[in-house]
Amino acid sequence: MFKVPPISADRLPTLLRAIPKAELHIHIEGSLEPELIFALAQRNGLTLQYPSVEALRAAYAFTNLQSFLDIYYAGASVLLHERDFYDMARAYLARAALDNVVHAEIFFDPQTHTARGVPIETVVNGLHRACEDARGTLGISASLILCFLRHLSEEEAFATLEQALPLQDKFIGVGLDSSEVGHPPEKFARVFARCRELGLHLVAHAGEEGPPAYIWSALDVLKVERIDHGVQALKDEALVRRLAQERIPLTVCPLSNQKLCVFPDLKDHNLRQLLDAGLCATVNSDDPAYFGGYINDNFTQVFAATGMTARHAYQLASNSFEASFASEADKRHWQHQLKEAFDRFVEHD
Ligand code: ADE
Ligand code: ZN
Repeated sequence: MFKVPPISADRLPTLLRAIPKAELHIHIEGSLEPELIFALAQRNGLTLQYPSVEALRAAYAFTNLQSFLDIYYAGASVLLHERDFYDMARAYLARAALDNVVHAEIFFDPQTHTARGVPIETVVNGLHRACEDARGTLGISASLILCFLRHLSEEEAFATLEQALPLQDKFIGVGLDSSEVGHPPEKFARVFARCRELGLHLVAHAGEEGPPAYIWSALDVLKVERIDHGVQALKDEALVRRLAQERIPLTVCPLSNQKLCVFPDLKDHNLRQLLDAGLCATVNSDDPAYFGGYINDNFTQVFAATGMTARHAYQLASNSFEASFASEADKRHWQHQLKEAFDRFVEHD
């Protein structure tokens, strides 16, 4: 066990920014900044519904998940060519590297693009090339997770899987996102069973707005390895015990939860309780261009709002490596880097 040194509250933000971390819950379409949306629209000869970057940003006032998704899908409509997907992923990875993200597992929504006539190869090849390039040029490792849109049918998810299979060496797993309530995990039981047979990693959004029952069925029916969000788990003591015992990771996104009104205020966020209950919770940005911050903003703001300490910081970063789908050798290496970052921080105190 690593003994976490005490660090004063005023130095905590610097520590949070400095420590190496993995990001496991980032929708690449949610990293499209308004400036890039406008630049891509111009490059592709498209006209947007908003007259300016400022007008678009001003529309980012959400009341719940659906109010965000409507504007998020509209933003993604500027992505047409492989180069557009590359540029979007490159911009995210460069930004993440500045936050000392050493590893990212990146969601993408192929159905948002194939529905507009963009071939799935265009999407996957552009994103994958950006991930490959980032290893050498940014020193960050990155892999892709294909998400099925849960407001669409399971047949449509199967059709997407079929299209994606020739590209299977370019993504490591599948997830489930979009409108949660009314679309329980069991709607996708068969397609997840098939993905499991194919050896893909499995994750699903559950317990963001939806009830603890959706977390149970993501685990028991879909057999996912991680739960995305999962903040509603605290409403169910038996579920908390299960998540703790099996060390099922939760990829928590504090600023997203605040902006989508899952909690009335960041100070009401339950991340600290999740950690103190022994759960393998992690901090992530979800859709940073829409929710007002990248991963380090999530760390610093939720720590300031809830009074978490250096011990929580160490646990969250360590959890992010434990919860990743990287090799055991990479995980050991990053855990070692994390301890060194703490040691260096104390020495220079
Ligand atoms: N797609 C992008 N962000 C999402 C979120 N927070 N929940 C569900 N689907 C999403
Ligand atoms: Zn998400």
